[in-house]
Amino acid sequence: MKCLFYFKDKSKSRQQNSAPELKNRSPPDNSPRAVKSSGSEASQRSIPELYEEKAHNLRVFSFSELRNATNDFNRMLKIGEGGFGSVYKGFIKPPNGQGEKTVVAVKKLNRDGLQGHKQWVAEVQFLGVVDHPNLVKLIGYCAVDGERGIQRLLVYEFMPNKSLEDHLFSKAFPSLPWKRRLEIVLGAAEGLAYLHEGLEIQVIYRDFKSSNVLLDENFKPKLSDFGLAREGPADGHTHVSTAVVGTYGYAAPDYVETGHLTTKSDVWSFGVVLYEILTGRRSLERNRPRMEQKLLEWVRQFPVDSRKFCMIMDPRLQNQYSLNAARRIAKLADSCLCKNPKDRPKMSRVVESLKEAIQVCEEGSPSEKRTPDYPGTNSVDSDKNPDQIGTTESARRRMAHLASLSENVNVVGRRRFMNMQRTKVP
Ligand SMILES: Nc1ncnc2c1ncn2[C@@H]1O[C@H](COP(=O)(O)OP(=O)(O)OP(=O)(O)O)[C@@H](O)[C@H]1O
Ligand SMILES: [Mg+2]
Repeated sequence: MKCLFYFKDKSKSRQQNSAPELKNRSPPDNSPRAVKSSGSEASQRSIPELYEEKAHNLRVFSFSELRNATNDFNRMLKIGEGGFGSVYKGFIKPPNGQGEKTVVAVKKLNRDGLQGHKQWVAEVQFLGVVDHPNLVKLIGYCAVDGERGIQRLLVYEFMPNKSLEDHLFSKAFPSLPWKRRLEIVLGAAEGLAYLHEGLEIQVIYRDFKSSNVLLDENFKPKLSDFGLAREGPADGHTHVSTAVVGTYGYAAPDYVETGHLTTKSDVWSFGVVLYEILTGRRSLERNRPRMEQKLLEWVRQFPVDSRKFCMIMDPRLQNQYSLNAARRIAKLADSCLCKNPKDRPKMSRVVESLKEAIQVCEEGSPSEKRTPDYPGTNSVDSDKNPDQIGTTESARRRMAHLASLSENVNVVGRRRFMNMQRTKVP
């Protein structure tokens, strides 16, 4: 999904930064001191200052090194494309030229001048400073200002399992199991909590979405794409005032309306992704019936405590999920999606809630696993008129009910088997 950009400030002149210069200057667009914000003068260090101190182990690549690494940006090695540019799989030699090559991902910026350059600088600076198991590692970068224009590239650790978006929405991948979905969002939440609360400065990520949650060989999630990241408000300030950038379907409405950016804007986007993992639907889907195109509007018809709630769940889960945990996740999502940003939880609180939900899954008896709610069952029922649901839907529910009954038979069988195992223990 492409980013949205409404640039209020187009007055800044074109900067031609090559990599070494990056270390010696503060790009105007990434410091809260440089933007209109409420409150008094800042005392904390800025990202460019921290970058000076921390980012010495980033490798500076020549363009030809990266051209060789990607076989001249060969189409066969292209692994993705986003608003920023194309991403290639590449193979680089260690810095001393000795030993095995390492697999990397090389992102080659589109040649769209100042904006692309600003995002590149932001990405190098933020990823040069942060360090967390749930944030993708930047290995190095390349910047060339030649006669034929500028080249900006980024070299990351390679994430072999694509993105959460791919696994949730592409039929080319098997369905992500329920527990794995929860573990992935937990890791992503930990990455965001670190950015918001675990650093000397506060970092607002500003582009949280499922395509930016990359997965390593063990499906451990790492956030990528720091091109839109911003420093949070300086001491005593409530927010950063900024041009509105982000992605349709994920950006917090209060931020889009006012341009006031806080960490709670990220919390909103996180809430959207929570509904994506529950439903297996994208935040915006233009090819669905009108009432279903906007995920957040659609799920509102199936309140979390109603009997209808289970109808939002991703059919690809094939009922293999804990309904209790799903309800907890939906409640958590609703709190992240509060209209007033102040009412949204901090990410550290979100992390705690996700851990609790995972525990519910682990402790939940097998029969607690998703069994759909039907007339006559004793589940929470605030739903007054099941007839409104329509015949196709009720047929689908009957089928699902049958499936769940046979699932319960298996569950009973499994329990018995476990009891027998126990009796064998001396
Ligand atoms: N470090 C990486 N390792 C492996 N694959 C990657 C890496 N970074 C990006 N990719 C692949 O490239 C794809 C495109 O990434 P990119 O961030 O450019 O675009 P996007 O997230 O889909 O969209 P947007 O530009 O709106 O963020 C990703 O979905 C992923 O499949
Ligand atoms: Mg991305």
